Amino acid sequence: MKLWGGRFTKETDQLVHNFNASLSFDQKFYEEDIRGSIAHVTMLAKQGILSEQDRDSIIRGLEEICEDIKSGKLEFDGEHEDIHSFVEAHLTERIGEAGKRLHTGRSRNDQVALDMKLYTRKEILLMDELLKSLLESLLKIMKENTDTIMPGFTHLQKAQPITLAHHMGAYFEMFKRDRDRLHDIHERMNYCPLGSGALAGTTYPLDREYSAKLLDFYGPTLNSMDSVSDRDYLIELSAAMSIIMMHLSRFCEEIIIWNTNEYQFVEIDDSYSTGSSIMPQKKNPDIAELVRGKTGRVYGSLVSLLTTMKGLSLAYNKDMQEDKEFVFDAIDTTKGCIELFCGMLDTMTFKKENMRKSAEGGFTNATDAADYLVNHGVPFRDAHGIIGELVLTCIEKGISLGELPISEYKKISPVFEEDIYDAISMETCVSKRNTIGAPGPEAMKQVIGIYEEYLKNNG
Ligand code: ARG
Repeated sequence: MKLWGGRFTKETDQLVHNFNASLSFDQKFYEEDIRGSIAHVTMLAKQGILSEQDRDSIIRGLEEICEDIKSGKLEFDGEHEDIHSFVEAHLTERIGEAGKRLHTGRSRNDQVALDMKLYTRKEILLMDELLKSLLESLLKIMKENTDTIMPGFTHLQKAQPITLAHHMGAYFEMFKRDRDRLHDIHERMNYCPLGSGALAGTTYPLDREYSAKLLDFYGPTLNSMDSVSDRDYLIELSAAMSIIMMHLSRFCEEIIIWNTNEYQFVEIDDSYSTGSSIMPQKKNPDIAELVRGKTGRVYGSLVSLLTTMKGLSLAYNKDMQEDKEFVFDAIDTTKGCIELFCGMLDTMTFKKENMRKSAEGGFTNATDAADYLVNHGVPFRDAHGIIGELVLTCIEKGISLGELPISEYKKISPVFEEDIYDAISMETCVSKRNTIGAPGPEAMKQVIGIYEEYLKNNG
């Protein structure tokens, strides 16, 4: 059924119909569409614009349609342009005349703006829950590993010893900020466009405050032109999802490296690995690679949406229909990736021995050796040079600073005593770094306490 017809003398070309239609993807928010319609007619009846009898029969009809779609009894077809016309047509078919009153004081422009908001608002909350589970997994690993020593890297070169708890804590911070971003978007978007009409409001005495309240919004939007053409919140959401994916992707990159035969810091569980069709020995980190790969896809949604919007004059333009497939795909991809990643992390084995052994190589304690000299009165720049020379000696001998005899130390500076070995042990290097934010166990425990509180208060 067409929603227009009066001023047309010809049927729409079939190709045009197909090109124009959005039902194949906007069916995703049929529940939101119906929920919005129920709120709309409830408000219309309260305002005396629609009879209570019509309201009741419309609501009953809509609820039945919703049930029938859910159970598969009512299927989507190629005949209708979009979810709005699909629902309205079936309603009228079922309840007759009253169904034709549903669209009073409303346009598909405010209707689609509402549906998309209701849908993404729900998805934002679901995504936030997934991120919360991820933070819980991270915190568990942190608690168990405040003294698991591993090398910290810069330039992918060993730099200084840290702990596994500290490394996981860095990701905790990132995903915590991601939750904050989702929360901010929710706060900004949570205003109801319903009642904005096509662009200029309506002539009916609508109670927009009331509709907004029925749909759990903070209130109505304040400009009807903006209401029907605002897609900022989808762009913000795509940006937030892009950042989530970027964080997951960095983490995946590290896991892929840590899982190599060369590093062996972790072993990805068999249930989260894949094999090779030709090489029998292979166990590949495909899941981590796919999460990394899918990041580009979510970035794509951000760039596509920005590009779609950049040239649009006010108010609604059909270009905006393009928002849905990008955003739906990005939401499904991001949620799927967080969930998969969480499962991979929960089942992964950390090979603590290998991490520690690796931290001991590569002169990760050289900074602490220089600090030892500084604590004995040597200016830092001189200390830096002295330790640099000692490192060179060690490289020539193929040993670590901890294995270099005290005689060698004394040769270069009389300041060195036996206690240098204790000062540059991995434990000392880590445990001395106890200012907040550092890997030392005291600082780490304090931060873990803060994170525990945070997770308790941010359900
Ligand atoms: N399917 C359309 C969309 O997603 C609904 C709004 C149609 N409005 C219109 N004036 N053609 O944007």
